[in-house]
Amino acid sequence: MTVDRRNLVTLLDWEAGEIRKVLDLAARTKTEVRQGRFQHMLGGRTLALVFEKASMRTRVSFEVAMTQLGGRSIYLSKSDVDLGKREPVKDGARVLSRYVDAIAARVFEHSTIEQLAVYATVPVINALSNCAHPCQALADMMTIEEKLIAIGDVRVAYIGDANNVAWSLGVICGKLGIDYVLACPKAYRFDADALATLGEIAEAGGASFSLADSPAEAAEGAHVLYTDTWVSMGQEKEAEQRRRNFDGYQINAELVARADQSAIIMHCLPAHRGSEITDEVIESSQSAIFDQSENRLHAQRALLQLLLAE
Ligand code: CP
Ligand code: NVA
Repeated sequence: MTVDRRNLVTLLDWEAGEIRKVLDLAARTKTEVRQGRFQHMLGGRTLALVFEKASMRTRVSFEVAMTQLGGRSIYLSKSDVDLGKREPVKDGARVLSRYVDAIAARVFEHSTIEQLAVYATVPVINALSNCAHPCQALADMMTIEEKLIAIGDVRVAYIGDANNVAWSLGVICGKLGIDYVLACPKAYRFDADALATLGEIAEAGGASFSLADSPAEAAEGAHVLYTDTWVSMGQEKEAEQRRRNFDGYQINAELVARADQSAIIMHCLPAHRGSEITDEVIESSQSAIFDQSENRLHAQRALLQLLLAE
């Protein structure tokens, strides 16, 4: 089984059926790995991890995924590579392609990953850019499907900053026909084009995308309450102002009480307890946060298997 795509730069250009293949393989191999029945299929293959920004989950889950697949990974930090500064992105892409079988890159500017994908001759995976975090979205959807399998019409409420994580979650929800509602202060919402795109994807997928005027409105009857940091990597200078402007957008027990009884709480992590979410909610029985983190490994292992299949 393979996917037609060679790269995962954004989920925007992936068909629902291709996303489905990753999710189905991830669910199946999660069980196989746990039962010790998983077959190595990428022996002798190498993944380059080119990271301009910090990471724990993404880096470790990719490295472990390659180990489980029988291959290996090479981690390259900004001081090792520094694409666009030490050498042009297009040179780095072509040189790495002569050594490794795939490149996963975490970049400040989305245009860097786009350029990598243009010039690399091996699959390129977006391990987070300022615009998108598609690997996170795959694990998020896997978690939603695992936890809410019995619920027919799932509604996902994202409360907080309209950032890379919120974007990729909105895209995957729309593609797979899941309603998505976003509560975000007006000044921090996606721009008009992006909002229109989310609306179009949802419509094509048979779902809805909407903006809520308040966190309470978004949370009402929702099956998933999702949030992420108010200050993404690269926005550190705005931190103080952002914390002030997002006041009231916290997922806390009061907000959780508005959601459906079966609702799960999600956060891509790292979390800032007392800001976008409370410690009580993270530690509550409704929290799916650590299963969600585990699923990064299963979703990315499936992605590598499909992108690198021969
Ligand atoms: N959620 C996530 O991508 O975590 P890291 O930044 O630790 O990789
Ligand atoms: N929105 C966050 C996600 C971290 C995993 C950031 O970009 O920093």
